[in-house]
Amino acid sequence: MSAEPAIARAAFSLEAAGQEQHGSFVDETIGIIVRHGGDIVSFAAGAPAAEALALARVDELMTDVLARDGMSALNYGVTEGEQELREIVAEGARARGIDADAEDVIVTAGALQAIDLACRVFLRAGDLVVSGSPSFANALSAFRNRGARVLEVPQDEDGIDVSAAARTLRQRGERAKLFFVVPNFDNPTGTTLSEERRDALLALAAAHDAVVIEDDPYEALRYRGKDLAPLAARMRDRVIHLGSFSKTFLPGIRVGWAVADPVTVRRMAAAKQTMDSSTSTLGQRLVIAFHRRGTFPDHLGALRRLYAAKQSAARTALDREFRGTGVSWNDPDGGFYFWMRTGVSSRELLDVAIEEGVAFVPGDAFTTTGGCRDALRFSYCAPTPARIDEGARRLRRAYDRVRARD
Ligand SMILES: Cc1ncc(COP(=O)(O)O)c(C=O)c1O
Repeated sequence: MSAEPAIARAAFSLEAAGQEQHGSFVDETIGIIVRHGGDIVSFAAGAPAAEALALARVDELMTDVLARDGMSALNYGVTEGEQELREIVAEGARARGIDADAEDVIVTAGALQAIDLACRVFLRAGDLVVSGSPSFANALSAFRNRGARVLEVPQDEDGIDVSAAARTLRQRGERAKLFFVVPNFDNPTGTTLSEERRDALLALAAAHDAVVIEDDPYEALRYRGKDLAPLAARMRDRVIHLGSFSKTFLPGIRVGWAVADPVTVRRMAAAKQTMDSSTSTLGQRLVIAFHRRGTFPDHLGALRRLYAAKQSAARTALDREFRGTGVSWNDPDGGFYFWMRTGVSSRELLDVAIEEGVAFVPGDAFTTTGGCRDALRFSYCAPTPARIDEGARRLRRAYDRVRARD
């Protein structure tokens, strides 16, 4: 056998032509931590806490599903999703002011698959996607894997700077095909798109006759302040609204959804039929069984209390460790993340941090431009408050070691 198999040469020629597959360094970071082993406090993963997963009492749910549905729970399903689940999702959307029926819903393998399906339906090579910068890394890669170009627009504490987006598009004389936004407790910045910016973004999208992906997996995890109406409740006909049971139930069952018009749902279903045919029937039935218990609202309340306590522990620990250093972080009203600026290279800091027993995701993982090098995403969702406290201590030690090199 030759040193380089033909299959690898074929992939290499695509890479050389600028058509390589893009992934996510966020997912890579998790692999780095696993390979390193040992005692690491991970502020890297945006994954629910073990305590949160246990609240679902999935063993009982599994017994209920198998007793009730038998082997049909383990068979293929309808591409658009289980009818009862589509109705549950539509009802949740209506409660948030979105005019939706079950036929406007497609159940997907997580919100991430819904992003990819929307890209397959709406994007062609060379199309321009506008997103905040930094932005959800996996979505940026999904756009690029369709051959789309990404215009990254600065974000501030109110979310994506819509005026800057409009100005840049005007100066370049370009038409945007798609806008991508995480309106609540953004990944990675934690920011929430303000009322004014929501309306401005929709107006800009309308001016470009563009589609908006509203990716909203964190909306139920608000710890302070009042809910803002989703973009899809303000303008129904050009917004694809995405949600997920990953952050509020069980990410491992891979169940999310898109709410759009029935024609878009049909197109997304066609795209899904070449991927996985249907979302895991068992996963969907577990969500349905959990919903039938009637305790979802209480469950969300418990999650909010759990994560608010973690956020508060993280705020206290970072304040103790980093006060007076010039390191800064924000104070989101919900979600899983702080966005920190350290003034040192986050890649360098990560190497040392792992030696010290703590991890995070470097900021440049969330851009396509190599920016945000001195920033990092600090996820407080998974460790317990005591571990958060210890992790912040370790992070300070790593920071001091990197600073000492300057
Ligand atoms: C903004 C955003 N969108 C989508 C996802 C993917 O979620 P899911 O597990 O539903 O695919 C995540 C998960 O980290 C996220 O942060």
